[in-house]
Amino acid sequence: MADKKVTLTLNGEAPVELDVLQGTLGQDVVDVRSLGSKGLFTFDPGFTSTASCESKITYIDGDEGILLHRGYPIDQLATHSNYLEVCYILLNGETPTSEQFEEFRTTVTRHTMIHEQITRLLQGFRRDSHPMAVMCGVTGALAAFYHDSLDVNIERHREIAAFRLLSKMPTVAAMCYKYSIGQPFVYPRNDLSYAGNFLHMMFATPCEEYKINPVLERAMDRILILHADHEQNASTSTVRTAGSSGANPFACIAAGIASLWGPAHGGANEACLRMLEEINHKEHIPEFVKRAKDKNDSFRLMGFGHRVYKNYDPRATVMRDTCHEVLNELGMKDDLLEVAMELEHIALNDPYFIERKLYPNVDFYSGIILKAMGIPSSMFTVIFAMARTVGWIAHWKEMHDEGMKIARPRQLYTGYEQREFTSKLSK
Ligand code: SDX
Repeated sequence: MADKKVTLTLNGEAPVELDVLQGTLGQDVVDVRSLGSKGLFTFDPGFTSTASCESKITYIDGDEGILLHRGYPIDQLATHSNYLEVCYILLNGETPTSEQFEEFRTTVTRHTMIHEQITRLLQGFRRDSHPMAVMCGVTGALAAFYHDSLDVNIERHREIAAFRLLSKMPTVAAMCYKYSIGQPFVYPRNDLSYAGNFLHMMFATPCEEYKINPVLERAMDRILILHADHEQNASTSTVRTAGSSGANPFACIAAGIASLWGPAHGGANEACLRMLEEINHKEHIPEFVKRAKDKNDSFRLMGFGHRVYKNYDPRATVMRDTCHEVLNELGMKDDLLEVAMELEHIALNDPYFIERKLYPNVDFYSGIILKAMGIPSSMFTVIFAMARTVGWIAHWKEMHDEGMKIARPRQLYTGYEQREFTSKLSK
Protein backbone atom coordinates (compact mmCIF):
# COMPACT_ATOMS: atom_id res chain seq x y z
CA MET A 1 0.00 0.00 0.00
CA ALA A 2 1.49 3.40 -0.91
CA ASP A 3 1.90 5.80 2.06
CA LYS A 4 2.02 8.91 -0.08
CA LYS A 5 -0.99 10.05 -2.09
CA VAL A 6 -2.02 12.96 -4.33
CA THR A 7 -5.56 14.23 -4.60
CA LEU A 8 -6.99 15.39 -7.92
CA THR A 9 -10.01 17.70 -7.73
CA LEU A 10 -11.89 18.33 -10.99
CA ASN A 11 -14.18 21.34 -11.27
CA GLY A 12 -16.28 20.63 -8.20
CA GLU A 13 -16.48 16.85 -8.67
CA ALA A 14 -15.54 14.44 -5.91
CA PRO A 15 -11.73 14.47 -5.40
CA VAL A 16 -9.78 11.52 -6.83
CA GLU A 17 -7.04 10.09 -4.62
CA LEU A 18 -4.03 8.58 -6.42
CA ASP A 19 -1.19 6.53 -4.92
CA VAL A 20 2.39 7.84 -5.11
CA LEU A 21 4.75 4.91 -5.70
CA GLN A 22 8.36 5.08 -4.50
CA GLY A 23 11.30 3.28 -6.13
CA THR A 24 14.70 2.38 -4.66
CA LEU A 25 16.23 5.54 -6.21
CA GLY A 26 14.95 8.51 -8.21
CA GLN A 27 11.66 10.30 -8.59
CA ASP A 28 8.41 9.08 -7.02
CA VAL A 29 5.63 8.33 -9.54
CA VAL A 30 1.89 9.06 -9.41
CA ASP A 31 -0.06 5.91 -10.24
CA VAL A 32 -2.62 7.20 -12.77
CA ARG A 33 -3.86 3.79 -13.93
CA SER A 34 -7.30 4.30 -12.41
CA LEU A 35 -7.87 7.64 -14.19
CA GLY A 36 -9.03 6.01 -17.45
CA SER A 37 -12.00 4.42 -15.70
CA LYS A 38 -12.89 7.89 -14.42
CA GLY A 39 -12.95 9.22 -17.99
CA LEU A 40 -9.63 11.05 -17.72
CA PHE A 41 -6.30 10.60 -19.57
CA THR A 42 -2.94 12.19 -18.75
CA PHE A 43 -1.32 14.17 -21.60
CA ASP A 44 2.46 13.88 -22.04
CA PRO A 45 3.72 13.95 -25.70
CA GLY A 46 7.33 12.69 -25.80
CA PHE A 47 6.85 11.19 -22.33
CA THR A 48 8.85 13.98 -20.64
CA SER A 49 7.13 13.23 -17.30
CA THR A 50 5.99 9.63 -17.74
CA ALA A 51 7.31 6.43 -16.17
CA SER A 52 6.23 3.78 -18.70
CA CYS A 53 7.15 0.75 -16.59
CA GLU A 54 8.87 -0.55 -13.46
CA SER A 55 12.41 -1.80 -14.04
CA LYS A 56 15.43 -3.04 -12.06
CA ILE A 57 17.99 -2.91 -14.86
CA THR A 58 19.37 0.65 -15.20
CA TYR A 59 19.12 3.82 -13.15
CA ILE A 60 19.96 7.32 -14.42
CA ASP A 61 20.18 10.48 -12.31
CA GLY A 62 20.22 13.21 -14.96
CA ASP A 63 20.97 16.05 -12.57
CA GLU A 64 23.95 14.30 -10.96
CA GLY A 65 25.15 12.58 -14.17
CA ILE A 66 24.84 9.11 -12.64
CA LEU A 67 24.34 5.88 -14.66
CA LEU A 68 24.03 2.54 -12.84
CA HIS A 69 23.59 -0.91 -14.39
CA ARG A 70 22.08 -3.22 -11.73
CA GLY A 71 23.56 -0.73 -9.23
CA TYR A 72 27.10 -0.70 -10.67
CA PRO A 73 28.39 2.77 -11.82
CA ILE A 74 29.18 2.95 -15.54
CA ASP A 75 32.71 4.29 -15.03
CA GLN A 76 33.58 1.32 -12.78
CA LEU A 77 32.16 -1.14 -15.32
CA ALA A 78 33.98 0.58 -18.21
CA THR A 79 37.26 0.52 -16.26
CA HIS A 80 37.19 -2.85 -14.50
CA SER A 81 34.75 -5.09 -16.40
CA ASN A 82 34.34 -6.31 -19.98
CA TYR A 83 31.38 -6.20 -22.34
CA LEU A 84 30.34 -9.85 -21.94
CA GLU A 85 30.47 -9.59 -18.14
CA VAL A 86 28.30 -6.44 -18.37
CA CYS A 87 25.92 -8.41 -20.64
CA TYR A 88 25.67 -11.12 -17.98
CA ILE A 89 25.00 -8.49 -15.29
CA LEU A 90 22.31 -6.74 -17.35
CA LEU A 91 20.58 -10.02 -18.24
CA ASN A 92 20.89 -11.80 -14.88
CA GLY A 93 21.07 -8.99 -12.31
CA GLU A 94 24.24 -10.13 -10.54
CA THR A 95 27.96 -10.42 -11.35
CA PRO A 96 28.86 -13.92 -12.59
CA THR A 97 31.22 -16.34 -10.84
CA SER A 98 34.13 -17.46 -13.01
CA GLU A 99 32.27 -20.67 -13.82
CA GLN A 100 29.05 -18.82 -14.70
CA PHE A 101 30.98 -16.35 -16.86
CA GLU A 102 32.89 -19.11 -18.69
CA GLU A 103 29.61 -20.91 -19.50
CA PHE A 104 28.01 -17.64 -20.65
CA ARG A 105 31.04 -16.68 -22.77
CA THR A 106 31.22 -20.14 -24.34
CA THR A 107 27.51 -20.11 -25.22
CA VAL A 108 27.79 -16.66 -26.84
CA THR A 109 30.99 -17.63 -28.68
CA ARG A 110 29.51 -20.84 -30.08
CA HIS A 111 26.52 -19.13 -31.66
CA THR A 112 28.27 -16.35 -33.59
CA MET A 113 27.85 -17.99 -37.01
CA ILE A 114 24.70 -17.19 -38.97
CA HIS A 115 22.71 -19.39 -41.36
CA GLU A 116 24.61 -19.49 -44.65
CA GLN A 117 21.42 -18.63 -46.54
CA ILE A 118 21.43 -15.20 -44.85
CA THR A 119 24.49 -14.23 -46.88
CA ARG A 120 22.32 -14.59 -50.00
CA LEU A 121 19.56 -12.50 -48.40
CA LEU A 122 22.09 -9.81 -47.56
CA GLN A 123 23.39 -9.83 -51.11
CA GLY A 124 19.95 -8.78 -52.31
CA PHE A 125 20.68 -5.26 -51.04
CA ARG A 126 22.48 -2.66 -53.17
CA ARG A 127 26.16 -2.37 -52.26
CA ASP A 128 25.63 1.32 -51.48
CA SER A 129 22.73 0.68 -49.06
CA HIS A 130 23.16 2.38 -45.69
CA PRO A 131 24.41 -0.37 -43.33
CA MET A 132 21.63 0.47 -40.86
CA ALA A 133 19.03 -0.36 -43.53
CA VAL A 134 20.72 -3.73 -44.07
CA MET A 135 21.12 -4.35 -40.33
CA CYS A 136 17.45 -3.59 -39.70
CA GLY A 137 16.28 -5.83 -42.56
CA VAL A 138 18.55 -8.78 -41.79
CA THR A 139 17.78 -8.71 -38.05
CA GLY A 140 14.05 -8.84 -38.69
CA ALA A 141 14.63 -11.63 -41.22
CA LEU A 142 16.38 -13.80 -38.59
CA ALA A 143 12.85 -14.81 -37.54
CA ALA A 144 12.58 -16.58 -40.91
CA PHE A 145 15.55 -18.80 -40.01
CA TYR A 146 15.12 -19.54 -36.34
CA HIS A 147 11.59 -20.94 -36.05
CA ASP A 148 12.53 -23.01 -32.99
CA SER A 149 12.77 -19.98 -30.66
CA LEU A 150 9.82 -17.80 -31.58
CA ASP A 151 7.23 -18.68 -28.94
CA VAL A 152 7.75 -15.79 -26.53
CA ASN A 153 5.59 -17.50 -23.94
CA ILE A 154 8.19 -20.25 -23.50
CA GLU A 155 11.07 -19.08 -21.28
CA ARG A 156 13.55 -21.45 -22.98
CA HIS A 157 12.65 -19.94 -26.37
CA ARG A 158 13.26 -16.45 -24.97
CA GLU A 159 16.65 -17.56 -23.65
CA ILE A 160 17.70 -19.20 -26.95
CA ALA A 161 16.62 -16.12 -28.95
CA ALA A 162 18.50 -13.84 -26.53
CA PHE A 163 21.74 -15.77 -26.99
CA ARG A 164 21.28 -15.91 -30.77
CA LEU A 165 20.84 -12.15 -30.97
CA LEU A 166 23.73 -11.36 -28.62
CA SER A 167 26.00 -13.77 -30.52
CA LYS A 168 25.07 -12.91 -34.09
CA MET A 169 24.75 -9.13 -34.09
CA PRO A 170 28.55 -8.57 -34.47
CA THR A 171 28.59 -11.07 -37.35
CA VAL A 172 25.70 -9.32 -39.12
CA ALA A 173 27.21 -5.90 -38.40
CA ALA A 174 30.58 -6.84 -39.86
CA MET A 175 28.87 -8.39 -42.89
CA CYS A 176 27.05 -5.09 -43.50
CA TYR A 177 30.43 -3.36 -43.66
CA LYS A 178 32.19 -6.00 -45.78
CA TYR A 179 29.28 -6.03 -48.25
CA SER A 180 29.39 -2.22 -48.57
CA ILE A 181 33.09 -2.27 -49.53
CA GLY A 182 32.90 -5.32 -51.78
CA GLN A 183 35.13 -7.51 -49.64
CA PRO A 184 34.37 -11.18 -48.81
CA PHE A 185 32.65 -11.93 -45.51
CA VAL A 186 34.94 -13.09 -42.70
CA TYR A 187 33.65 -15.91 -40.52
CA PRO A 188 33.65 -15.48 -36.74
CA ARG A 189 36.39 -17.21 -34.75
CA ASN A 190 35.95 -18.92 -31.39
CA ASP A 191 39.45 -18.10 -30.14
CA LEU A 192 38.87 -14.33 -30.04
CA SER A 193 37.16 -12.01 -27.55
CA TYR A 194 33.78 -10.51 -28.42
CA ALA A 195 35.34 -7.17 -29.40
CA GLY A 196 38.38 -8.81 -31.00
CA ASN A 197 36.16 -11.11 -33.08
CA PHE A 198 34.19 -8.09 -34.32
CA LEU A 199 37.37 -6.22 -35.31
CA HIS A 200 38.66 -9.36 -37.04
CA MET A 201 35.41 -9.81 -39.01
CA MET A 202 35.53 -6.12 -39.94
CA PHE A 203 39.15 -5.81 -41.05
CA ALA A 204 40.61 -9.26 -41.83
CA THR A 205 41.02 -10.24 -45.50
CA PRO A 206 41.98 -13.56 -47.15
CA CYS A 207 45.24 -11.97 -48.32
CA GLU A 208 47.07 -11.60 -45.02
CA GLU A 209 46.75 -12.22 -41.29
CA TYR A 210 44.97 -9.40 -39.42
CA LYS A 211 46.68 -8.65 -36.12
CA ILE A 212 44.29 -7.27 -33.48
CA ASN A 213 45.75 -4.25 -31.69
CA PRO A 214 45.01 -4.88 -27.98
CA VAL A 215 44.53 -1.14 -27.32
CA LEU A 216 41.89 -0.95 -30.06
CA GLU A 217 40.32 -4.21 -28.85
CA ARG A 218 40.03 -2.76 -25.33
CA ALA A 219 38.69 0.53 -26.71
CA MET A 220 36.02 -1.27 -28.76
CA ASP A 221 35.05 -3.37 -25.71
CA ARG A 222 34.71 -0.16 -23.68
CA ILE A 223 32.61 1.50 -26.41
CA LEU A 224 30.29 -1.52 -26.34
CA ILE A 225 29.98 -1.25 -22.53
CA LEU A 226 29.19 2.48 -22.73
CA HIS A 227 26.37 1.83 -25.21
CA ALA A 228 24.93 -1.35 -23.62
CA ASP A 229 21.82 0.05 -21.97
CA HIS A 230 20.25 3.34 -20.99
CA GLU A 231 16.86 2.93 -19.24
CA GLN A 232 13.68 3.72 -21.22
CA ASN A 233 15.23 5.62 -24.17
CA ALA A 234 13.35 5.85 -27.47
CA SER A 235 14.64 2.59 -28.97
CA THR A 236 14.24 0.59 -25.76
CA SER A 237 10.69 1.90 -25.39
CA THR A 238 10.13 0.84 -29.00
CA VAL A 239 11.34 -2.69 -28.22
CA ARG A 240 9.08 -2.84 -25.16
CA THR A 241 6.09 -1.59 -27.17
CA ALA A 242 6.71 -4.09 -29.98
CA GLY A 243 7.25 -6.87 -27.43
CA SER A 244 4.04 -6.02 -25.57
CA SER A 245 2.01 -7.39 -28.49
CA GLY A 246 3.85 -10.74 -28.21
CA ALA A 247 5.95 -10.05 -31.34
CA ASN A 248 8.96 -12.33 -31.77
CA PRO A 249 12.32 -11.11 -30.38
CA PHE A 250 13.94 -10.65 -33.80
CA ALA A 251 11.09 -8.35 -34.91
CA CYS A 252 11.33 -6.42 -31.60
CA ILE A 253 15.08 -5.87 -31.94
CA ALA A 254 14.63 -4.83 -35.59
CA ALA A 255 12.10 -2.24 -34.36
CA GLY A 256 14.67 -1.00 -31.84
CA ILE A 257 17.29 -0.68 -34.60
CA ALA A 258 14.87 1.35 -36.70
CA SER A 259 14.19 3.76 -33.83
CA LEU A 260 17.88 4.05 -32.89
CA TRP A 261 18.73 5.13 -36.47
CA GLY A 262 17.15 8.57 -35.99
CA PRO A 263 19.67 11.48 -35.75
CA ALA A 264 18.06 12.65 -32.49
CA HIS A 265 18.94 9.25 -30.97
CA GLY A 266 21.58 6.73 -32.00
CA GLY A 267 22.14 8.36 -35.39
CA ALA A 268 23.69 11.35 -33.58
CA ASN A 269 27.18 9.81 -33.58
CA GLU A 270 27.28 9.71 -37.39
CA ALA A 271 25.65 13.16 -37.55
CA CYS A 272 28.12 14.53 -34.98
CA LEU A 273 31.16 13.48 -37.00
CA ARG A 274 29.61 14.99 -40.14
CA MET A 275 29.01 18.20 -38.17
CA LEU A 276 32.64 18.31 -36.96
CA GLU A 277 33.83 17.71 -40.54
CA GLU A 278 31.55 20.53 -41.74
CA ILE A 279 32.91 22.88 -39.04
CA ASN A 280 36.37 21.68 -40.05
CA HIS A 281 38.32 24.39 -38.18
CA LYS A 282 38.07 26.15 -34.81
CA GLU A 283 37.56 29.52 -36.48
CA HIS A 284 34.21 28.29 -37.92
CA ILE A 285 32.81 27.24 -34.51
CA PRO A 286 31.13 30.57 -33.60
CA GLU A 287 29.09 30.46 -36.81
CA PHE A 288 27.78 26.95 -35.99
CA VAL A 289 27.09 27.82 -32.35
CA LYS A 290 25.09 30.82 -33.60
CA ARG A 291 23.07 28.53 -35.91
CA ALA A 292 22.47 26.05 -33.06
CA LYS A 293 20.92 28.87 -31.01
CA ASP A 294 18.80 30.22 -33.87
CA LYS A 295 15.20 29.01 -33.52
CA ASN A 296 14.66 29.58 -37.24
CA ASP A 297 17.48 27.19 -38.06
CA SER A 298 16.84 23.45 -37.60
CA PHE A 299 20.58 22.91 -36.99
CA ARG A 300 21.49 21.57 -33.54
CA LEU A 301 24.87 20.70 -32.08
CA MET A 302 24.92 16.95 -32.62
CA GLY A 303 26.30 15.05 -29.63
CA PHE A 304 25.03 17.79 -27.32
CA GLY A 305 22.03 17.78 -25.01
CA HIS A 306 20.00 14.95 -23.56
CA ARG A 307 16.43 14.37 -22.41
CA VAL A 308 17.60 13.07 -19.05
CA TYR A 309 21.16 14.30 -18.43
CA LYS A 310 21.20 17.94 -17.32
CA ASN A 311 24.83 17.40 -16.36
CA TYR A 312 27.75 15.70 -18.06
CA ASP A 313 26.76 12.33 -19.58
CA PRO A 314 29.10 10.05 -17.56
CA ARG A 315 29.66 8.00 -20.70
CA ALA A 316 30.99 11.06 -22.56
CA THR A 317 33.73 11.49 -19.96
CA VAL A 318 34.94 7.89 -20.36
CA MET A 319 34.59 8.20 -24.14
CA ARG A 320 36.77 11.35 -24.20
CA ASP A 321 39.51 9.59 -22.22
CA THR A 322 39.30 6.60 -24.57
CA CYS A 323 39.56 8.97 -27.53
CA HIS A 324 42.90 10.31 -26.28
CA GLU A 325 44.11 6.74 -25.56
CA VAL A 326 43.31 5.49 -29.08
CA LEU A 327 44.79 8.52 -30.86
CA ASN A 328 47.97 8.27 -28.76
CA GLU A 329 48.25 4.53 -29.47
CA LEU A 330 47.85 5.12 -33.18
CA GLY A 331 50.18 8.13 -33.09
CA MET A 332 47.38 10.09 -34.70
CA LYS A 333 46.52 13.74 -34.33
CA ASP A 334 42.94 14.29 -35.44
CA ASP A 335 42.11 17.95 -36.10
CA LEU A 336 38.47 17.03 -35.47
CA LEU A 337 39.35 16.23 -31.85
CA GLU A 338 40.78 19.74 -31.52
CA VAL A 339 37.56 21.11 -33.06
CA ALA A 340 35.43 18.95 -30.71
CA MET A 341 37.31 20.06 -27.60
CA GLU A 342 37.15 23.73 -28.58
CA LEU A 343 33.43 23.37 -29.42
CA GLU A 344 32.85 21.74 -26.03
CA HIS A 345 34.74 24.56 -24.29
CA ILE A 346 32.85 27.32 -26.12
CA ALA A 347 29.41 25.72 -25.66
CA LEU A 348 29.96 25.01 -21.96
CA ASN A 349 30.71 28.69 -21.42
CA ASP A 350 27.80 29.99 -23.50
CA PRO A 351 24.72 31.14 -21.50
CA TYR A 352 22.36 29.51 -24.05
CA PHE A 353 23.79 26.04 -23.33
CA ILE A 354 24.34 26.72 -19.63
CA GLU A 355 20.72 27.86 -19.07
CA ARG A 356 19.40 24.79 -20.91
CA LYS A 357 21.90 22.46 -19.20
CA LEU A 358 23.18 21.15 -22.51
CA TYR A 359 26.31 19.01 -22.16
CA PRO A 360 28.17 16.60 -24.45
CA ASN A 361 26.48 13.20 -24.55
CA VAL A 362 27.71 9.71 -25.38
CA ASP A 363 27.73 10.50 -29.11
CA PHE A 364 30.03 13.52 -28.96
CA TYR A 365 33.39 11.72 -28.91
CA SER A 366 32.53 8.21 -30.09
CA GLY A 367 32.70 9.13 -33.77
CA ILE A 368 36.28 10.42 -33.48
CA ILE A 369 37.42 7.14 -31.91
CA LEU A 370 35.62 4.96 -34.45
CA LYS A 371 36.96 7.04 -37.35
CA ALA A 372 40.50 6.70 -35.94
CA MET A 373 39.95 2.93 -35.83
CA GLY A 374 39.22 2.99 -39.56
CA ILE A 375 35.44 2.56 -39.24
CA PRO A 376 33.32 4.63 -41.68
CA SER A 377 30.70 6.98 -40.16
CA SER A 378 27.90 4.96 -41.82
CA MET A 379 28.84 2.09 -39.46
CA PHE A 380 28.75 4.14 -36.23
CA THR A 381 25.06 3.56 -35.46
CA VAL A 382 25.40 -0.09 -36.50
CA ILE A 383 27.98 -0.46 -33.71
CA PHE A 384 25.66 1.38 -31.33
CA ALA A 385 22.84 -1.06 -32.27
CA MET A 386 25.18 -4.04 -31.82
CA ALA A 387 26.13 -2.82 -28.32
CA ARG A 388 22.57 -1.88 -27.31
CA THR A 389 21.13 -5.27 -28.33
CA VAL A 390 21.86 -6.62 -24.84
CA GLY A 391 19.99 -3.72 -23.23
CA TRP A 392 17.02 -4.18 -25.54
CA ILE A 393 16.98 -7.93 -24.79
CA ALA A 394 17.26 -7.33 -21.02
CA HIS A 395 14.21 -5.03 -21.06
CA TRP A 396 12.30 -7.36 -23.39
CA LYS A 397 13.00 -10.32 -21.04
CA GLU A 398 12.10 -8.24 -17.94
CA MET A 399 8.80 -7.27 -19.54
CA HIS A 400 7.95 -10.92 -20.22
CA ASP A 401 9.17 -12.10 -16.82
CA GLU A 402 7.15 -9.43 -14.99
CA GLY A 403 4.02 -9.97 -17.11
CA MET A 404 2.85 -7.25 -19.47
CA LYS A 405 -0.20 -5.58 -20.94
CA ILE A 406 -0.18 -4.53 -24.60
CA ALA A 407 1.07 -0.93 -24.88
CA ARG A 408 -1.95 1.03 -26.08
CA PRO A 409 -1.80 4.77 -25.20
CA ARG A 410 -4.77 7.05 -25.88
CA GLN A 411 -4.81 10.64 -27.21
CA LEU A 412 -6.20 14.16 -27.00
CA TYR A 413 -8.49 14.23 -30.07
CA THR A 414 -8.74 17.65 -31.76
CA GLY A 415 -10.16 16.57 -35.14
CA TYR A 416 -13.65 16.99 -36.67
CA GLU A 417 -16.81 16.11 -34.80
CA GLN A 418 -19.07 13.59 -36.56
CA ARG A 419 -20.28 14.86 -39.97
CA GLU A 420 -22.17 13.36 -42.97
CA PHE A 421 -20.07 11.97 -45.83
CA THR A 422 -20.63 13.30 -49.39
CA SER A 423 -18.04 12.51 -52.06
CA LYS A 424 -16.69 15.27 -54.38
CA LEU A 425 -15.57 12.69 -56.95
CA SER A 426 -17.20 12.95 -60.38
CA LYS A 427 -19.54 10.00 -60.90
C1 SDX B 1 21.14 9.37 -27.38
O1 SDX B 1 17.42 8.87 -24.27
C2 SDX B 1 18.55 8.32 -24.22
O2 SDX B 1 18.97 7.79 -23.19
C3 SDX B 1 19.32 8.31 -25.52
C4 SDX B 1 20.76 7.84 -25.44
C5 SDX B 1 20.84 6.35 -25.16
O3 SDX B 1 21.92 5.92 -24.71
O4 SDX B 1 19.89 5.63 -25.51
O5 SDX B 1 21.45 8.55 -24.42
C6 SDX B 1 21.49 8.06 -26.77
O6 SDX B 1 20.23 9.41 -28.16
C7 SDX B 1 21.88 10.61 -26.97
C8 SDX B 1 21.30 11.90 -27.61
C9 SDX B 1 21.86 12.00 -29.02
N1 SDX B 1 21.23 13.08 -29.78
C10 SDX B 1 21.89 14.19 -30.10
O7 SDX B 1 23.05 14.46 -29.74
C11 SDX B 1 21.14 15.12 -31.03
C12 SDX B 1 21.24 16.57 -30.53
N2 SDX B 1 20.51 16.66 -29.29
C13 SDX B 1 19.13 17.16 -29.35
O8 SDX B 1 18.44 16.76 -30.49
C14 SDX B 1 18.39 17.04 -28.02
O9 SDX B 1 19.24 17.47 -27.06
C15 SDX B 1 17.81 15.70 -27.61
C16 SDX B 1 16.92 15.13 -28.67
C17 SDX B 1 18.90 14.73 -27.31
C18 SDX B 1 16.98 15.96 -26.36
O10 SDX B 1 15.96 16.79 -26.71
P1 SDX B 1 14.79 17.15 -25.65
O11 SDX B 1 15.00 16.51 -24.34
O12 SDX B 1 13.47 16.91 -26.32
O13 SDX B 1 15.05 18.63 -25.37
P2 SDX B 1 14.44 19.82 -26.22
O14 SDX B 1 14.51 19.48 -27.67
O15 SDX B 1 13.13 20.20 -25.63
O16 SDX B 1 15.53 20.98 -25.95
C19 SDX B 1 15.42 21.82 -24.84
C20 SDX B 1 16.02 23.15 -25.32
C21 SDX B 1 15.39 23.65 -26.63
O17 SDX B 1 15.56 25.04 -26.64
P3 SDX B 1 14.28 25.97 -26.14
O18 SDX B 1 13.07 25.55 -26.94
O19 SDX B 1 14.13 25.69 -24.65
O20 SDX B 1 14.70 27.39 -26.42
O21 SDX B 1 17.42 22.93 -25.62
C22 SDX B 1 17.65 23.17 -26.99
C23 SDX B 1 16.29 23.08 -27.69
O22 SDX B 1 16.29 23.88 -28.88
N3 SDX B 1 18.55 22.11 -27.46
C24 SDX B 1 19.59 22.32 -28.28
C25 SDX B 1 20.19 21.05 -28.41
N4 SDX B 1 19.53 20.15 -27.68
C26 SDX B 1 18.51 20.80 -27.10
N5 SDX B 1 20.04 23.41 -28.91
C27 SDX B 1 21.13 23.26 -29.69
N6 SDX B 1 21.79 22.08 -29.86
C28 SDX B 1 21.35 20.95 -29.23
N7 SDX B 1 21.98 19.81 -29.39
